[in-house]
Amino acid sequence: MPVHRPDPTRRDFLRFLAASPLLAGSWPDWAGGAGLTGDGGQQALIDRADQALNVFDFEAVAEANLPPAHWGYIQTGVRDDATLRANREAFSKLKLRARRLVGVSDIDMSVELFGERWPTPIVIAPTGSQRGFHPEGEVAVARAARSRNHLMVLSNVATTSLEDAIEARGAPIWQQFYPPERWESTRRLLRRVEATGCPVAVLTVDLPAMSNRETELRYARMDTRDCTRCHGNNSGEDYFSRKPMYDGIDRADITEIGGGWMDWAFVDRFKAETSMRLVIKGIVTAEDARRSVDHGADAIVVSNHGGRAAESLRSTLESLPEVVEAVDGRIPVLVDSGFRRGMDILKGLALGATAVQIGRPYLWGLAAFGQEGVETVLDLLTAELEIAMKFAGARSIDEIERSMVEWA
Ligand code: FNR
Repeated sequence: MPVHRPDPTRRDFLRFLAASPLLAGSWPDWAGGAGLTGDGGQQALIDRADQALNVFDFEAVAEANLPPAHWGYIQTGVRDDATLRANREAFSKLKLRARRLVGVSDIDMSVELFGERWPTPIVIAPTGSQRGFHPEGEVAVARAARSRNHLMVLSNVATTSLEDAIEARGAPIWQQFYPPERWESTRRLLRRVEATGCPVAVLTVDLPAMSNRETELRYARMDTRDCTRCHGNNSGEDYFSRKPMYDGIDRADITEIGGGWMDWAFVDRFKAETSMRLVIKGIVTAEDARRSVDHGADAIVVSNHGGRAAESLRSTLESLPEVVEAVDGRIPVLVDSGFRRGMDILKGLALGATAVQIGRPYLWGLAAFGQEGVETVLDLLTAELEIAMKFAGARSIDEIERSMVEWA
C-alpha cells in the first residue's frame, strides 16, 4: 500500500521544518499544517500517540505521513480557504464568563440523542475515503468509536461498507446520504441501510455544486506518484468502484455527488420512504431550520462542511444561535466545523447545540497512528471538555448555559 507509507525523506524534511523556529510562518497559506488551522503550538513531530498534548500534534504527523494529494484532500477548504479560517477564528471571538464555587469535582458529560445516552457530546462526523489516510480506514475509526463509546456517522463515500463498519463498531452507526438522483436507486440504498439496523439517516444538503477546492488541487499537483494504480483514470466509474455503499447502484444514477437537484419535495419523499430518523446536515440559517422542522427533520446539523462547501465567510459558531432560536427546542441541533478544543465544544454547547461533531482531528489521528491515534484524539478532546466544564462552572451538559459565553 505505497500511498499510506510515510516517505522518510519528506517526513524528515517536515520534522526539520517543524522544529525550526527560523522557518515558522514561512509556508504559503495553502501549504497546510499550521498554515491552515493555525493553532496548537507544536514544535516537533511526536513519535507516539501518547505524546500528544493536543489534537494539532496529530495534524503535523498526518502531514508527514500522507502523500500530498491525500493530505490536500483532508485540509482543503474552498477557494481561498477563508471560510475554513472563519470557522477557527470565531472561537477566539467568543469568550468565557466563568462561574465559581459550583463544586465541580464530579463532571457528567453525558448527552441523550433519540433516547440513547452517550458518555460525551463528541460525535464522529462522516468523512469520505478514509482508506486514503490509513490502510484500515473506517474500520480503525469504528474500532476507536467502540473502545471509547462515541456515536459515529459513516459517509456515503466511505471506503468501507456500513455492514463492515458496524461489525467493527459492535453497535449501530448513523449513515450519511448523498442520494442517487434516480429515485429507485435511493430507495434501494435506503433499504440496504435500514436492513443493518441503522437508526438514523443523515442527509447532507450543503453541496449543491462541486466546490472549488483549490488547496486540494494544488497539493495534487505536488504529488509525483503514479495515482492511476489506485485511482485508475480518475473517472466517475473508478471513483465509485471504491465506494462500497454504492455497490449495486448504477453509476449513471449518481449524477452529482452533492445532489444539486435536491429540494424540499425530495426531503418529504425521502422522509416518507424510510423508517429511520432523518437528520439534515448543512443547515446554517433560521429560515432553513424552521423548514427542516416543518418537513419532518428529527435533528439538524449546523455545518458548513468544515469550510469546504460554500465560501460563505460565515463560521458555524455564528450560524448556530439563529438556528437554535428558530428550532426552539423542538429537535436536537448538532454542530460541526472547526472544533479542535474541549473549550470549543463547550462554546458550541453554550450556544445551544446538543452535541458537536468533529472531522479533521480524528482524520489526523487516523493518518498519524491508526486506531490508537483516533482514540487519543477522542481522549484528549474529552479530557479538555471536562476541564473546560470545571472552569466554566458546569457539572453537567445541561448546566452549560448561554450566559457562560459572550461575543468579543
Ligand atoms: C468531510 N465532510 C463530509 N461530510 C459529509 O456529509 N459527507 C462526506 O462524505 C464528507 N467527507 C468529508 C471528507 C473530509 C476529508 C472532510 C475534512 C470533511 C464534512 C464533515 O462531515 C464535517 O462537516 C467537517 O469535517 C467538520 O469540520 P472539521 O471538524 O473537519 O473542521
